[in-house]
Amino acid sequence: MPHPDADDVPDDDAPDAPRFRDKPVSFVRRSGRMSDGQERAWAALSPHYLLDVERAAAVTSIRPGDPVDLTAVYGRSAPLVVEIGSGQGHAIVHAAGATPEADFLAVEVFRAGLARTMLDADRAGIDNLRLVEANAPEVLEHLLPAASVDEIWIFFPDPWHKNKHTKRRLVAPGFPAVAARALKPGGRLRLATDWEDYALQMREVMTAATEFAPGFEGAWAPRFEGRIMTAFERKGLAKGRDIRDLVYVRRDGA
Ligand SMILES: C[S@@+](CC[C@H](N)C(=O)[O-])C[C@H]1O[C@@H](n2cnc3c(N)ncnc32)[C@H](O)[C@@H]1O
Repeated sequence: MPHPDADDVPDDDAPDAPRFRDKPVSFVRRSGRMSDGQERAWAALSPHYLLDVERAAAVTSIRPGDPVDLTAVYGRSAPLVVEIGSGQGHAIVHAAGATPEADFLAVEVFRAGLARTMLDADRAGIDNLRLVEANAPEVLEHLLPAASVDEIWIFFPDPWHKNKHTKRRLVAPGFPAVAARALKPGGRLRLATDWEDYALQMREVMTAATEFAPGFEGAWAPRFEGRIMTAFERKGLAKGRDIRDLVYVRRDGA
């Protein structure tokens, strides 16, 4: 798994920094190689599980103007759950297996994680899950049809805890609008983090977003029961951190 808070994160302000996008992305793509098993899984399973998407300039980009036909992808019309930053895929593979009446889309840029997700899905005989290797905000803005998603999940996004890196955080001003575009009215955005400062930022950003209403009472939402424990949550708990859940509901017409 890449370690995005490492010191060698490219400096966006350097004169030779790549300028494919107008703001820094929330991930760092390492050249880390996949194992032989992961390479084999990629070759064998990606034709079935991985969406074949048109790119813009960057390899993880999505070309605008070419939204996916969800009914053709899943072979049916069903509620859709999108997980952003699905990592190794533990949460979404489990959820897809436990909820056969819904369709699931894993959005990730970490190739080895996508390979692992496909292997686990294949072993479990799961067919209501697809994956896309792409930058999540572009998936929400350009790949998914407007008002097509029932739930967006973002569990333990990279915290980017150093001051000089917080501008890379995914849940930041500008994000609610792209999430709102993809969600159906009444659709939900579910967030979880073990990083207190990011939890506060998430709540501040979402409270200011006119497209959303809070789906909880009090300071924080109860733990989402559909979220299984992943290594990131376990690590946060082991370090004595509080796990914060938040849920927001897409307002109608906002
Ligand atoms: C800290 S990991 C958490 C993984 C998983 N949600 C879990 O709880 O185990 C965050 C993941 O988000 C992915 N990620 C970060 N920014 C992304 C983006 N803009 N688009 C797609 N994936 C992203 C990273 O590659 C990484 O695998």
